[in-house]
Amino acid sequence: MSSILNKDKDKKKNTIILGIETSCDDTCAAVVENGQKILSNVIASQHEIHEKYGGVVPEIASRRHIEIIDIIISEAIIQAKISLESIDAVSVSNRPGLVGSLLAGVGAAKAISYALKIPLIAVNHLKAHLFSNFLINPDMGGGFIGLIVSGGHTSLYSVDSKWNIREIGHTLDDAAGEAFDKIARFLGLGYPGGPVIDSLAKTGDSKKIELPFPMIDSNDFNFSFSGLKTALIYKTKKEPGLLDRENIADLVASFQASIVKVLFEKTFKACAQAGYKKILVSGGVAANSSLREAFTAKAESEDVKLFIPPVKLCMDNAAMVACLGHYDYIQKRYSEISVDVYSRSDI
Ligand code: KG4
Ligand code: ZN
Repeated sequence: MSSILNKDKDKKKNTIILGIETSCDDTCAAVVENGQKILSNVIASQHEIHEKYGGVVPEIASRRHIEIIDIIISEAIIQAKISLESIDAVSVSNRPGLVGSLLAGVGAAKAISYALKIPLIAVNHLKAHLFSNFLINPDMGGGFIGLIVSGGHTSLYSVDSKWNIREIGHTLDDAAGEAFDKIARFLGLGYPGGPVIDSLAKTGDSKKIELPFPMIDSNDFNFSFSGLKTALIYKTKKEPGLLDRENIADLVASFQASIVKVLFEKTFKACAQAGYKKILVSGGVAANSSLREAFTAKAESEDVKLFIPPVKLCMDNAAMVACLGHYDYIQKRYSEISVDVYSRSDI
C-alpha cells in the first residue's frame, strides 16, 4: 500500500486527506482516502478526566489536546499504513467549538501544512457531522433534512439538491446532549450522560412519569430543552421518592422519550413541509438507541429514507472532517495559514 501511495502525487489517482478534530473534549485524527475509505480513525476521549467535574472543563480540555495531539496524529498515520509524504491535504475543524480546544487542532494542522507544503483546509464542525454520512453513503445526494444533535448543538438544516445548506431551526437554550449530561450529573450518574441514560432507560417505563414535550407544537423548528431539565428537577423536589433507586430508570426513560419525541416530530414535519423524502441524523445524541429506533420506525411508516451513520461516526471524530476536507480539496477551497478559530459559526 505505502509504495503505491508514495508515488508522485501528480500520477496517483487517490486523494489522501489527514483530518484533525479537537473542537471539544475528544482528540481525534483520521486518514481518509477519496473522501470515503477510512484508513484510520483515532479517537482519544477525555471523558475520564472531565467525569469528576460532571462536564467538560475547557481549560483542561485544551491542555490535554496539546499534550497528546502529536501522538494521536502519528497513530492515525501508522494505522493508515501511509507515509506523511503521501498526504495531499490536512483538514481541521476550526469552528464552532471551544476556542482553546480548536486552537490545539488548528495549530497542529498549520504546522503539518507548512512543513509538508500541502493545502490547509479549515472546516465547519457541524457541516462535517453532516458529511459523516458520506463515509457510508457517498451517493446519497442532496435534497434532505439534516438534524445535528450533539452536546453543543441541536439544529435542523434544509439541504437542497445542490447541497446549499440552510438552518431552519436550533435550540433556544440547552442542546439535547447537554440536557442528557446535566440530568445525569443531577442524578449522580456520571459523564457523559447520554450513554448512561440510554442504557438505564432500557430498564425503565417511559410512560410512568409524566414530563413535558417542550415546543412540540410550536410553529417553528426550534427546540428548547432547558425547561424539560427544570421540570424533571422540580418534579423530584415535589416527590423525592422518584430519586429512589427503583424509580430512576422510569425517570430517565421519560426524560429520554420526551427528547426523542420532540426531535423526531420536528424533523419529520420539516421533511414533509420541504417535500423531501430523505432525513439525515448525526451528532453524539444520534448514538441513542431509542432515537435510532424511533427514527427508523417513523421513516419506514412515512416512506422516508433515513441516513444515520454508525455510532462511532455520529460522535466527534476526524474521519468526518477528512471526508468534508476531501470535497473542499477537489474544489481547491483551501484556507490561509492565518486562518482563525471561532466559538460560534453558521454552518
Ligand atoms: O457530537 P459529540 O460527540 O460532541 C459534541 O460535538 O458535542 O456529542 C456528545 C454528546 C454528549 O452530550 C453525550 O452525552 C451525547 O452526545 N451522547 C448521547 C449518547 N451518546 C453520546 N446522548 C444520548 N444517547 C447516547 N447514547
Ligand atoms: Zn460534534
